[in-house]
Amino acid sequence: MTVTFTREDRLGVLTINRPEALNALNSQVLTDLSKVFAELKTNPVGALIVTGAGEKSFVAGADIKEMESMTAAQANEFAIRGQTLFSQLEAFPFPTIAAVNGFALGGGLELALACDWIVASVKTKWGLPEVSLGLIPGYGGTQRLSRVVGKALAKRVALTGEVFTADQGFAWGLFAHVAESEQVMAKAKAQAELILTRAPLAVGFTKQSIEHGFDQALPDGLKTEAKLFSQAFETKDHNEGIQAFIQKRKPNFKGE
Ligand code: CAA
Repeated sequence: MTVTFTREDRLGVLTINRPEALNALNSQVLTDLSKVFAELKTNPVGALIVTGAGEKSFVAGADIKEMESMTAAQANEFAIRGQTLFSQLEAFPFPTIAAVNGFALGGGLELALACDWIVASVKTKWGLPEVSLGLIPGYGGTQRLSRVVGKALAKRVALTGEVFTADQGFAWGLFAHVAESEQVMAKAKAQAELILTRAPLAVGFTKQSIEHGFDQALPDGLKTEAKLFSQAFETKDHNEGIQAFIQKRKPNFKGE
């Protein structure tokens, strides 16, 4: 398997596992990713960490060698296949954290951008180098990066094809956290563990509200929020959370 998936209680860890090619995304990786996503759809986790095998690379992009003989029609299918998968990842009702441990280039940065946020190692080198190959980003890079860092910085990244440092990514709001290389996974896990102590349905509603509202006008986003706020009142966990506060004890959430 080019993708490994493990569960530690309610925490899932998905690892792109092709270190010999710096975890580049070839067709087999996409097939294996779709299998793991199907399993996550039927049997969700409370939080998911997405990372790359080895110490050198998160994901060094789509597999360039596979693109060598691709026709324009095949390229369209190739882009839609990756985009569909990454949109599935983005839409999961549970939080997803990218633990970026090295190169996050092209499709690698696009994979990280489809997660809810990114914890990066100080050694991270990131960018959208597609223009240096005569290509453009095809797995959402021209769309998601500007939504995170703004249009001008996204253009600088994608039009120059320059490779950037972790510090630049943090300063521009792309990385939520930068850690020493050996601490990246521990940091991502600590953030995931904190989420796992919260009410699971409320966590899902909150993510849904931010996701839905982001591409809507403010009045529509606020309507979505009010609807989900009221849905939280139909959960048993909201009673538990409020009672625990009043009784000065820790809540025991059940995800109901
Ligand atoms: N596709 C296929 N193979 C890749 C790869 C990729 N994206 N990135 C690295 N590899 C392979 C190399 O070919 C090499 O394999 P061999 O040992 O068989 O030659 C192995 O991984 C190790 O890589 P390097 O020897 O190049 O390692 P390095 O440390 O010298 O350089 C690097 C590292 C700067 C990341 C360099 O490998 C590189 O520039 N990779 C390509 C990055 C890139 O352009 N990514 C964008 C791809 S296009 C895309 O992603 C389109 C899209 O949006 C969907």
